[in-house]
Parts: sequence; structure tokens; C-alpha cells
Amino acid sequence: MPQQLPNCIPTPPWWQLMNWIADPIGFQEKCRQQYGDIFIMQLSGIGASVMIGNPQAIQEIFTQDAKFEIGRANKLAEPLLGKNSIMLMDGDRHRRERKLLMPPFHGERLQTYAQEISLITQKITSQWQIKQPFVARSTMQKISLEVILQIVFGLSEGERYQQLKPLLTSWIDMTDSPLRSSMLFLKFLQKDWGEWTPWGQMKSKQKKVHELLQAEIEEKRNHSNEKQSDILSLMMAARDENGQAMTDEELREELLTLLFAGHETTATTLAWAFYQIHQNSDILGKLLEEINSLGENPEPMAIAQLPYLTAVCNETLRMYPVLPAIFPRITKSSMNIAGYEFEPETMLIPSIYLLHYQEDLYPQPYQFKPERFLERQYSPSEYMPFGGGSRRCLGYALALLEIKLVLATVLSNYQLALVDNKHIKLQRRGFALAPQGGVKMMMTGKR
Ligand code: HEM
Repeated sequence: MPQQLPNCIPTPPWWQLMNWIADPIGFQEKCRQQYGDIFIMQLSGIGASVMIGNPQAIQEIFTQDAKFEIGRANKLAEPLLGKNSIMLMDGDRHRRERKLLMPPFHGERLQTYAQEISLITQKITSQWQIKQPFVARSTMQKISLEVILQIVFGLSEGERYQQLKPLLTSWIDMTDSPLRSSMLFLKFLQKDWGEWTPWGQMKSKQKKVHELLQAEIEEKRNHSNEKQSDILSLMMAARDENGQAMTDEELREELLTLLFAGHETTATTLAWAFYQIHQNSDILGKLLEEINSLGENPEPMAIAQLPYLTAVCNETLRMYPVLPAIFPRITKSSMNIAGYEFEPETMLIPSIYLLHYQEDLYPQPYQFKPERFLERQYSPSEYMPFGGGSRRCLGYALALLEIKLVLATVLSNYQLALVDNKHIKLQRRGFALAPQGGVKMMMTGKR
């Protein structure tokens, strides 16, 4: 008897791949209208993928995460990050790596970073001039890069810092548009024919980044100092259950993973938050009232607990998922999910976008309504900006802390305005999504 499978999109696989690269949101939206919240996409060179936006099905996936291969499904990221990236690991190796990397991202450690985040924000935004337009996403990217360099890499000055900063920015910006992102998906573009080809440039920059990181690791090892609280120092000191430390290659590749995973994602979310807050004076007013209620020089951790600010961040991450979908899950054996029988080697992709625009969970999903997060609680399979199961984003607590502190610091110091009131679309940027044009704003005064 034939196995029952979800609807399959009938257009040619090359056409679907082009749509997935050029407009992953519009493409999912159209497919959902025709085929519902579970359907099969065929991507040329990648194969069939089951897109899933149904909360029950997502819950079944999260509770059975050990039955999937997830690192193998992230193979597309290997040329960028290297084979020692946590994102590409599975099974015991993945569990070991999470244990090694997790501690600096949680609990008290996190609090020690709060002051640094606020100071970095003040330093970078102090360069704004009255009425001079700036691109919010670019400023936020400067802040989040500085946060990663300082908190994760332990670098805030010196020659290596001066070299790494522009190099990392230009390396990441190599996939800043749908067209330039296509080299991540199309293998035939991944040919290193020297500096005049995009892939050649990408590889050459990557090599220089690795050399600088290696020098930094060696210097830290030779001048080890107990007091260092940056994440690289903590990673170097961490040991697994067999007493093994991470190798230099592992350290370098994990640093790049943290940079990739944590830098653009946070900056993009901040840009969207500024966009929505400045489209609606009611939201801005409520935020200011709440932040001001803490008095002068509030404790960073008190800011992080403000309910309305938290709701604004949650709604931003709902409406503007930074990734169109979470990591793909490949079935290791036959599995029944949402009543469908999937064979081994099936790729299931829980879609953040499809889930976050479910009308019965989020009435009027195209409207920005922070209140929905004050009125009800969402379960991990109803709201998943940071994914879930065994892969839940390692840096989610740092990301949320950073987003809240940057918003509070900027809003309480400056009056800002959008340069125009145009509707801004989500656009592909590498593996992620970002606001088209980056959200143009200007500072109109100081508070
Ligand atoms: C707004 C900011 C961020 C968003 C929206 C975000 C989102 C995500 C998502 C959706 C996943 C995949 C989870 C899954 O498949 O279940 C993920 C994984 C990951 N994220 Fe984040 N992330 C953010 C910030 C950060 C930061 C700041 C860091 C660290 C500096 C970070 C490090 C990671 C790592 C290492 C993984 C891989 C985890 C694993 O494979 O076990 N992320 N993130």
C-alpha cells in the first residue's frame, strides 16, 4: 500500500531552489496557501524536504530529537565554518560540545557581560549626528560585532583587534544579498579560482581570519590569566569527561560558528525592533514609561526583566524570524509524524515562518502586537525563534539580554525617527533573513 505523504509542490526543482534562495518567505507563503502547513519542497541539488509549520508536528519532532541526524543536514555550512562546528555535529560528539560551550552562555556569567554591552552601545551610538541618516541594521551590526569580539573572543583593543574587525565584517558581507548568497547553496559556484572569483575571495579572507584567531589563541595560552572572563578563555579552560581540552582547530571553528550564529541574528532583530517601535508612537511611549520607571542608571538585569520590553522583543522575533526555518532534521529510521509515515533519510524542516504566522495561535499575524505575549504563554512548539529540542540556540539568553539592553540604552538616550514610512520586506542574507535596505533612520534629538 502506498504510504501517505504530504502534498508535493509540482514545479521543477531548479525553480523551487531559485525561489527558496531569492524569496524564502514569499515562497513559503504561496505554498501554504495552496498546500497547507505541511508540504514537500523539491530543491535541485539538495533533494526533497518536508516543510512543517504545524505546532503538533513540531512538538512531535522536538520530543524525538535524538531520532534525527541534524549536524549532517547542516552540511551546507561546512565550507564556511569547518567540520568542527557544533552545528555540523551529531550524537555523542554534539552532546560533548554543548557541555563544553554552554556554561559561559548562562547564569551568573551572563550578568558579567551586561555592563560591557551597555558601554559598547553608548560608545557606538555616540557617533550619531542630529538629522544625519544612518542604516539601523549597520549600526546594530557594529554593536553586535563589538559584543562578540569583546565577550566571545576577548578582544577590545590592539593590532589584532584592528585587523580582525574590518576583515570579519567584509567576510560576512560577502553574502549580503540574495544573489551573493547563492554561492552558499550552488556547489558549482564554490570554485576557488583566486581572488577574482567570489568564492576565492571568501576562502582567502577565511584563511586570514584563521591565522589571526590562531595567533590570539597562542597568545592567550602563553599569558593565561585566571581573571579573564571572555568566552574563548573559558572554552580553552573547559575539559570534557575524559579531561580532554578542545584542539586549536576546534576552538577556531567554534569561534567562527559563534560569530556567524550570534552576530547578524542579533543585529537584524534589533533593526526590526527599531522599525516597529518607531512606526507606532504608542509602543514607544509604553516602552519609555516602563524603562523610566526604573530610575536613573538602572541595573542591567532589572532592564532584562521588564515585561513590556520583553513582549516587544518576543513579538519582533515572532514577526521577523531571522532564519526562515530551524535546522533540518533527517530521519534515521521510519517515523510517523503528524499521521504521515516518513522513510529513513527524509529531511524534515520545521519552519519558523509558517509556525509564527499561524492565525489560530497569533490572530492578525501580520500585525505587530506585543500584547499577545502578555496575554498568553506560548509553548516551545508554538513559538520557536531560537529553535528547540536538542539544538535550541546556545546563545539565546545572551541574544535576548543584548537586544533588551541595546533597546533600553538607545531609547532612553535618543529620539529617533524613520527616514520614510515605507513597508520593509524580509530579504535573504546568507542563510538568514534581514530587512531590505536595513531600516533607514535618523537621530532627531537627545533625551
Ligand atoms: C536573535 C538572535 C538569535 C536567533 C534568532 C538565533 C536562532 C537560532 C536558531 C533558530 C538555531 C537553530 C535551533 C534548532 O535548529 O533547533 C540556533 C542555533 C544556534 N545558535 Fe542561535 N540565534 C541567535 C543568537 C545567537 C547567539 C548570540 C549565539 C552565540 C553567540 C548563538 C549560537 C548558536 C549556536 C552555537 C547554535 C547551534 C546549536 C547546536 O547546534 O546545538 N545564537 N540559533
